[in-house]
Amino acid sequence: MPSARLLVLFGSQTGTAQDVSERLGREARRRQLSCRVEALDSYPVVNLINEPVVIFVCATAGQGDPPDNMKSFWRFIFRRSLPSTALRQMDFAVLGLGDSSYAKFNFVAKKLHRRLLQLGGSALLPVCLGDDQHELGPDAAIDPWLQDLWEKVLGPHPVPLNLDLMWPWGGTHPWPSKFTLQFLKDTPTSGPEELCVAGTDPQGPPSELQPFLAPMVSNQRVTGPSHFQDVRLIEFDISGSGMSFVAGDVVLIQPENTASHVQQFCQVLGLDPEQHFTLQPREPGVTCPARLPQPCSMRRLVSQYLDIASVPRRSFFELLACLSPHELEREKLREFSSARGQEELCEYCTRPRRTAWRWVLCDFPHTAAAIPPDYLLDLLPLIRPRAFSIASSLRAHPSRLQILVAVVQYRTRLREPRRGLCSSWLASLDPVQGPVRVPLWVRSGGLTFPKTPDVPVIMVGPGTGVAPFRAVIQERVAQGETGNVLFFGCRRRDQDFYWEAEWEQLQARGCLTLVTAFSREQEQKLYVQHRLRALGPLVWELLDGRGAHFYLAGNAKYMPADVCDTLLSIFREEGGLSGPDATAYLAQLQRTRRFQTETWA
Ligand code: 2AM
Repeated sequence: MPSARLLVLFGSQTGTAQDVSERLGREARRRQLSCRVEALDSYPVVNLINEPVVIFVCATAGQGDPPDNMKSFWRFIFRRSLPSTALRQMDFAVLGLGDSSYAKFNFVAKKLHRRLLQLGGSALLPVCLGDDQHELGPDAAIDPWLQDLWEKVLGPHPVPLNLDLMWPWGGTHPWPSKFTLQFLKDTPTSGPEELCVAGTDPQGPPSELQPFLAPMVSNQRVTGPSHFQDVRLIEFDISGSGMSFVAGDVVLIQPENTASHVQQFCQVLGLDPEQHFTLQPREPGVTCPARLPQPCSMRRLVSQYLDIASVPRRSFFELLACLSPHELEREKLREFSSARGQEELCEYCTRPRRTAWRWVLCDFPHTAAAIPPDYLLDLLPLIRPRAFSIASSLRAHPSRLQILVAVVQYRTRLREPRRGLCSSWLASLDPVQGPVRVPLWVRSGGLTFPKTPDVPVIMVGPGTGVAPFRAVIQERVAQGETGNVLFFGCRRRDQDFYWEAEWEQLQARGCLTLVTAFSREQEQKLYVQHRLRALGPLVWELLDGRGAHFYLAGNAKYMPADVCDTLLSIFREEGGLSGPDATAYLAQLQRTRRFQTETWA
């Protein structure tokens, strides 16, 4: 007998775990199971003791951290006081989403699986290790795992799939939309567009729900004209915001879609940008996006909320297939959403990074024109805020916040270059032409710096990795700390050496030791790790003799691993440690937070 009740709980950072969970929910309903899908932190965790079957879908963020929307659950489930029989009634399975290029691959899912076993739960299956690095994405691991899961959950006599719920074109809708959109007859006159995002919130500091609309003060290209990349130093005025931050913190910025894309998207989908609507959830457990104002205009929904510039996931094709009135398009969409069609979908969409708007919806015009507005929020994820390391200190720049933004642009098979949504949007804003305001708020970041005076810091930050170190150097210099060693690497002194004059001035004042590596000014590549190795005796003396903290920030490709290898060789050769002892020494620095990294892909 199939179990009557299934619960899917997710911890999602970028939306993939939520997307997979919702897919699981739909597949369960097609199998006539009752199924609820919830974010881990929205679910009252004490109720777990009454749940017969729970599927946990958890991403691993950054350096092995749980996503933000499962942090309270994470603290609760690891409480020592929980009895080892707490979950003995529960059958569970854990589906992990991670990236095997990071050392702590799927750490959260693996650790949760072990913990649930400790608490008496019975595992239906081994952990599923979804991997972003796989050619076909995480689905390569998820598809076969889900097949096993349904066999376990449904037992030897599964009920037949409810095909009506699968491809019901001509009948009812594929699955009910999460929301209903009710169009207003009249356009509200009292500017609700401005209502939700105000300035200072008397209730507390700016947050995702109430960002601060920060005036942009300047937006300046800091790379030379012949440099391959456009990098911007952007400054915001945060006076009156109630925000404050320390070195290592990050700022979150809520970007918007390009106005011309919004216009074209509305046109193809037959939406009137000026029309206003209100939104109601269809089911009890569903809530409206908290930061969406009500009523809201279509233009605002599309420009500020719907991530039309994202590369669509499989569920997008699945839903489109159900909604499509056009036979040929429907066939293709069905293929893309089936397990067999994944290689082809990857070839069409994921590899060339074809985005929903500008590509996919144009390739399926009859389907695009038939999308009921109720389904927009099922079809497209919400635009995520983007995090940037804060590059300035309030001590050096009171009431100001600065960031260093590399404008993301890359080529794929498609002729038009792909652009990062947030960095391109920021780069396009020009405060010289007229006032510009950007919704933002701050959050504590991954890097924390020593509170004790006189502790030296060694910082390795090639490229834009240097941003958080500028903030900490400014902060420490203002406090009279002089033990600041910065290893900075870039291609050429005259093209991408950020803040050259500032570093030189600090060096002249004796507040900074700057070590540079210009990779393309000589025949052989010269990287920060080569300079680090050459200064091995100093590095060892600072770390071992003076208790220095070591920080590493920048692009995650090969640099972090190369710098770690260099450190290990310094520990062996300067510290006289054996191979295993050098590894243990680094691990100990990591445990005591004297070695910290902030890397990004
Ligand atoms: P390159 O582009 O000439 O290879 C900032 O991006 C700097 O980091 C550039 O000078 C870049 O050099 C360098 N860089 C690239 N790969 C690196 C690696 N594995 N380790 C250290 N620095 C690297």
